[in-house]
Amino acid sequence: MSNKPSQRILVTGATGQIGSELIFELSKKYGKENVIAAGHSRAPSEKMLSAVSYAIVDVSDKDAVSKATARYDIDTIYNLAGVLSAAGEKNPALAWQVNMDGLRNVLEVARERNISRIFWASSIAAFGANAPRVSTPQETSLIPTTVYGICKVAGELLCNYYSNRYGLDIRSLRYPGIISSETPPGGGTTDYAVEIFYEAIKNKKYTCFVRKDTVLPMLYMPDCINATLKLMDADSSKIKIRTSYNLGGLSFTAEELANEIKKHIPEFTCDYKPDFRQKIADSWPMSLDDTPAREQWGWKPTYDLAAMTEDMLDKLSKRL
Ligand code: SER
Repeated sequence: MSNKPSQRILVTGATGQIGSELIFELSKKYGKENVIAAGHSRAPSEKMLSAVSYAIVDVSDKDAVSKATARYDIDTIYNLAGVLSAAGEKNPALAWQVNMDGLRNVLEVARERNISRIFWASSIAAFGANAPRVSTPQETSLIPTTVYGICKVAGELLCNYYSNRYGLDIRSLRYPGIISSETPPGGGTTDYAVEIFYEAIKNKKYTCFVRKDTVLPMLYMPDCINATLKLMDADSSKIKIRTSYNLGGLSFTAEELANEIKKHIPEFTCDYKPDFRQKIADSWPMSLDDTPAREQWGWKPTYDLAAMTEDMLDKLSKRL
């Protein structure tokens, strides 16, 4: 597997929650001329258009992926295009097309064009209710109940297969719920942990779609970006897992998050009206054992609940 430094980077799903922040970090690191943001459904922001090159690429169209990769002479791909868990339950066929066919297209193009490094986002959704829910181990039963989770398990195995069979340098993280202030997530089960901040600032109240005792693993965006870049920078010999790494960060109940926000906005109130997403949340881990990520390539989160909440409120109040 090659350790050639990344030069020409394609980020799919670049207008999404993670992509829209990752591209700026990549552009700082590798130069704006070397980062191509590829989006499909959401329009790119002015900020994005002025910072990096932008291309329309639907990952479920292999030809489009192949052409973009050739046109921009790409040697590294971050495949972040995806339909999240709750949206996937509303349209399982679309979830499969984007998450599964999209990944397979990216891997095939990578194989055909000798792409030197690939990142792909897996998720805590790869686990199902039969896995231990506290400190969920790296290796355990993976029987998810959502089509999104099924795509993540199959995708992890496909990444492992392409690594072993074709020698591709594929790296992946099982992202927990990502909390961020720049671009809201769309269609996920962990979205409440972001929505609550917007509503707390705008309306001083929020109706949460999971029970107040719901605990899910979460991560603040700066830690998410840091983990992603650290994994991609690590020497290939350190990457022993070619399915996807558990990535731990924060774990708190929805009520604990609401109470933390209340410390800054005392008039804020939160009520709880669980909907179909509760069942998804109940099938996912509450916390992850990420020992392999810590030991193999030095993963270490920095934000706790208090620091994340303070920073989110600070950034969002300035923006809203
Ligand atoms: N944040 C995602 C979701 O809720 C999990 O990867 O679907």
